[in-house]
Amino acid sequence: MESFYITTAIDYVNGSPHLGHAYEKVLTDVIARFRRQMGDKVHFLTGVDEHGQKVQASARKRGIPPQEFCDEMSQEFRGLLPKLNISNDDFIRTTEPRHKQVVQQVLQQLFDKGEIYLAEYKGFYSTRQEQFLQDKDRNPDGTWPEIFGEVTEIAESNYFFKLRQYQEWLVGFLEQNPNFIFPAYRQKQVMEFLKDPLNDLSISRPKSRLEWGIPMPFDGNYVTYVWFDALLNYYSAVADKPGTWPATWHVIGKDILVPPHAVYWPIMLHAAGLALPKGIVAHGWWMQRGAKMSKSTGNALNPLDLVTEFGPDAFRYFLIREMNVGQDSDFTREQFLVRYNSELANNLGNLVNRTLNMTTRFAGGVIPAAEAGDELDASLRSLWDKTRDEFIPLCEGFQFHTALERAMFFLTETNQYIEKRAPWKLGKSAEPKDQALLRTSLATMAEALRLAVALIQHVTPTTTEKINAVLGYQPGAVWREELNWGSRLTGAKVAEALVLFPRPQPPAAEAAPAKKKS
Ligand code: MSP
Repeated sequence: MESFYITTAIDYVNGSPHLGHAYEKVLTDVIARFRRQMGDKVHFLTGVDEHGQKVQASARKRGIPPQEFCDEMSQEFRGLLPKLNISNDDFIRTTEPRHKQVVQQVLQQLFDKGEIYLAEYKGFYSTRQEQFLQDKDRNPDGTWPEIFGEVTEIAESNYFFKLRQYQEWLVGFLEQNPNFIFPAYRQKQVMEFLKDPLNDLSISRPKSRLEWGIPMPFDGNYVTYVWFDALLNYYSAVADKPGTWPATWHVIGKDILVPPHAVYWPIMLHAAGLALPKGIVAHGWWMQRGAKMSKSTGNALNPLDLVTEFGPDAFRYFLIREMNVGQDSDFTREQFLVRYNSELANNLGNLVNRTLNMTTRFAGGVIPAAEAGDELDASLRSLWDKTRDEFIPLCEGFQFHTALERAMFFLTETNQYIEKRAPWKLGKSAEPKDQALLRTSLATMAEALRLAVALIQHVTPTTTEKINAVLGYQPGAVWREELNWGSRLTGAKVAEALVLFPRPQPPAAEAAPAKKKS
């Protein structure tokens, strides 16, 4: 069994989770579930990033100690996971002893090897990004870009990690591993970034300025820089689970690829003598009215509102169907409703209703065996084989949006098959030939439905389960075998009805129109 270790970024707990956070969990969950179905031994980690200036400042604002603040906020992030049907195996908080211990061990080891030194730094510092800045970070007019927030000039001693001496090694590594970063064009951006010389990385913050961090093991006057601390979560969470490290994929947003994940992290691992992950998946941003959804811009949508209204599967389906992994997508409720109505309610929901209704009406609720069909049946079957054979490689290559499009096309064609076959007409005929065709069409639509929902079950696990239940079907253990067209449903007793994707409630204004003035 192949070991497959996948992680999400760990979220800052200085505000509530929003759609961007939810998307990353859902995308990673879809990959994790897909790999489990493919037979891998999956370990799926997510968690929260609790140290640093931002969290300390948010706790102060609330007037409570940072640990208490983190305990409360982490609950909110953790609580989101079951609501989104996320199948994570572990959840890490960077304030846990298991994490702090590993961070301190790694720091001590690097210090002992001479990879870390103390030096005076004079220059500019962005509190928002918790980062020292260089002149090349300035706008052409000399001002600092908006993303850095308030920039102050400081002079202080700090511990530095010898990043620069590994620059050549990293370039060589990326050249030898051209698929380290997905999508590939992002790797080119990293190579561009590495054309300029790297500075050594300041990995400490004086306690006088920031208390909320992991103490440096070799100097109690300092705490660890939040990125050095946070990146190590991927390793600390599995340090006691032999055979799990290295990670297969780190799933992150494009904003934290360069430099933290694509430069600091590989160099940290290499310097510490640890194996490197297979790669990094950098997804794009959910935008609203042209701006990135985030806590700070105040346009963050609470994902739970949509999940409460439409259920986790509709939410998961939309996110995965709409976004091409790596690119940005605009979130609008209108677009959500278009997909919900046309793809889930009208296409999938309709096939479920038809299958249950007609099996009840024409076959006493028991799925008949298929008999000899004609070219209509043959062409649906061959479309199935093609759909499945394309679907799996698309998922392996993170092209989930296209994979779902193919699955939807198969459902559309199945509904078309029913239109053309018109079982309601066959049901009126006493001809044995028509009766045989009727039985075949009932078997065909049920089998097509079973197959389609087996195919998309990593995206819509609850829906697939519900549909299997109303089809009276218990799937076997080997997913790949479930995808072969056959007669597994013959003789199954179906339920009479299932409401899967109810019509959304109209907005309050429409539901209760204002009375006209007389
Ligand atoms: N704490 C760091 C990550 C440390 S990982 C060792 C951090 N946290 S965050 O809360 O700001 O972001 C967490 C993840 O959510 C990141 O991968 C980020 O890219 C993602 N998203 C935040 N807003 C987003 C959107 N609007 N759209 C999609 N994902 C975005 O960075």
